[in-house]
Amino acid sequence: MLPLRTLGNTGIRTSALALGGRQLANSSLTQAEVASLVDQAIDHGMDVIDTSPTFAGAQEWVAKALQRGQRVKVCAKLGHGVAGAMDWTADSVTIGIHQALQRTGAEALDIAYLHGCSAETLEKNGVVEALGEAVEAGKVKAAGYAGEGDGLVWAVRSKAFGVVQASVSCCDPAAGRDLLRRAVARGIGVVAKRSMANAPWLEELAPADAAATEYQRRWEAMGLQVEMPPEELALRWTVYHPAVHVALTGTSSVAHLQANVQAVAMGPLPRHVVALVDGAHRRHEQDWLGQM
Ligand SMILES: NC(=O)c1ccc[n+]([C@@H]2O[C@H](COP(=O)([O-])OP(=O)(O)OC[C@H]3O[C@@H](n4cnc5c(N)ncnc54)[C@H](OP(=O)(O)O)[C@@H]3O)[C@@H](O)[C@H]2O)c1
Repeated sequence: MLPLRTLGNTGIRTSALALGGRQLANSSLTQAEVASLVDQAIDHGMDVIDTSPTFAGAQEWVAKALQRGQRVKVCAKLGHGVAGAMDWTADSVTIGIHQALQRTGAEALDIAYLHGCSAETLEKNGVVEALGEAVEAGKVKAAGYAGEGDGLVWAVRSKAFGVVQASVSCCDPAAGRDLLRRAVARGIGVVAKRSMANAPWLEELAPADAAATEYQRRWEAMGLQVEMPPEELALRWTVYHPAVHVALTGTSSVAHLQANVQAVAMGPLPRHVVALVDGAHRRHEQDWLGQM
């Protein structure tokens, strides 16, 4: 079984490895294949399935799991793409929460993230206050922020969020992710996205987006020579990073999902491997910013 972690001071206890939502929206998979992926993930103890308005349908898979009585956390990303509300308004948050509750049939959302907005938006648009009101009303257990840049800095410094979701991987050092270490020290739960750096060693794989292209460039520049498969290195590096409670990995393959669970069971990486990755990061961290 996967190790369990507590997300900072939220009291929410989850599996250290969780299922990314990107691939659940992947149109090249049949519904039966996605169902099998979700079932396998839950059977292995993954109890978080990440969702987002950009991963169409991922929340419906959470709803189906709940209907079957499977224990999964309910998460939502808020602030944009909400029918009936302008992006980045208090309404977009309030209506987004209402719609996520309706869609999943849950009584409360475990984590509701403001998704990818700037510090200015967090400060001025009333979205943080709207999320806080939903927490007060018991509709949301933990207020979250998902993103990078000045929004992430603002979120960690403020006392408004119990959880942050940010990119952490062997290709995303962002100054050793000091900000996230500070978050952990302040009792904020940290969820890592892109925790396998979008598998940058697979050169034949068309990069998923601009960040994945950047990770391929970084992976090559790091030139790591280690005695283990790259997917194992990448996953164990993130899952056992001191600034990470939960690592989200996306996969469209049951075999990869099983391999990832086995890799996590091997525990933290040997020290000399961590030192090798850290050394590569020190050479580049001034230029390598966190990727959305
Ligand atoms: N802005 C946001 O909110 C945001 C942005 C990015 C990501 N996320 C979240 O974070 C999750 C994870 O990020 P991600 O999916 O972008 O990237 P990721 O988890 O770092 O990497 C996914 C890639 O790794 C491959 N992979 C997984 N396990 C593997 C294995 N054992 N061997 C070889 N390849 C393997 C997958 O290919 P296969 O399909 O072939 O396994 C896929 O191409 C997302 O699904 C999403 O939930 C959120």
